Amino acid sequence: MELEGRVAAVTGGGSGLGRFIVEALRAAGARVVVADIAPGEGVTLADVATDSGRAAVLTAAQSAGGLDVLVNNAGGWSIGGAQFPGVAPSAWRAAVELNLLAPMALVQDALPALRRSRGAVVNIASSAGVETSAYGSPEYAAAKAALIRFTTAVADWRDRYGVRVNCIVPGWIGLDRAHRELAAMSPAERAGAPALIAPAAIAAQVLRLARDESLAGRVLGMPNGSQEPSFLP
Ligand SMILES: NC(=O)c1ccc[n+]([C@@H]2O[C@H](COP(=O)([O-])OP(=O)(O)OC[C@H]3O[C@@H](n4cnc5c(N)ncnc54)[C@H](O)[C@@H]3O)[C@@H](O)[C@H]2O)c1
Repeated sequence: MELEGRVAAVTGGGSGLGRFIVEALRAAGARVVVADIAPGEGVTLADVATDSGRAAVLTAAQSAGGLDVLVNNAGGWSIGGAQFPGVAPSAWRAAVELNLLAPMALVQDALPALRRSRGAVVNIASSAGVETSAYGSPEYAAAKAALIRFTTAVADWRDRYGVRVNCIVPGWIGLDRAHRELAAMSPAERAGAPALIAPAAIAAQVLRLARDESLAGRVLGMPNGSQEPSFLP
């Protein structure tokens, strides 16, 4: 797919990794709906964990001319330090809602528009969803694992609907927050920390998955310490 003149929507596009994805899509000539729960310049205010928020994303895309590329980037741990099982079910369910159910619901809502454009979806998962070691936020890890499986489970949408859904699985990303956390570590801890993944490198892979019409239901791993992204078998 040629991205010039296309319409893309990026959830959580107001800051963090999403901001890099928005910039890369704009540099490729796409018009971008920047959907975020936090206000900002050019942002379509939308909590994608709600029906009304998802409707706002699709309305904004429609106003821009349709929807060609949907990037499900909004995600993260639940608010606050405590995680499952130390928080109430409402708190950990919110993490599952944001990282799994919201992307699935948005894909479902967007499917008619994506069928019209023969569009593409890129889901942003996490290496937490593929690793087999203990992880501090089990609800986040479980939701990301399910998002990965959702992606592969709809591989046949390319043939059924003309819509391609792919996924990126990044490790720890080199955003400002990560650099601050590294700076707060002792030299010994820092020496043992993995190499961060450049957010611009992830954004470049989002564009690759959106463009390459041979890719559907694929999961692209970008773990810490690896030089090249590679598809999971
Ligand atoms: N940061 C990392 O090291 C890392 C590693 C692996 C995967 N990821 C994944 O990458 C994606 C982006 O991570 P990040 O660190 O940039 O995230 P972030 O916490 O910085 O948030 C990104 C944006 O999402 C927005 N957002 C949060 N909840 C929202 C909602 N309900 N509706 C709409 N917008 C919402 C925030 O306002 C923010 O602008 C997430 O899916 C995350 O799980 C991040």
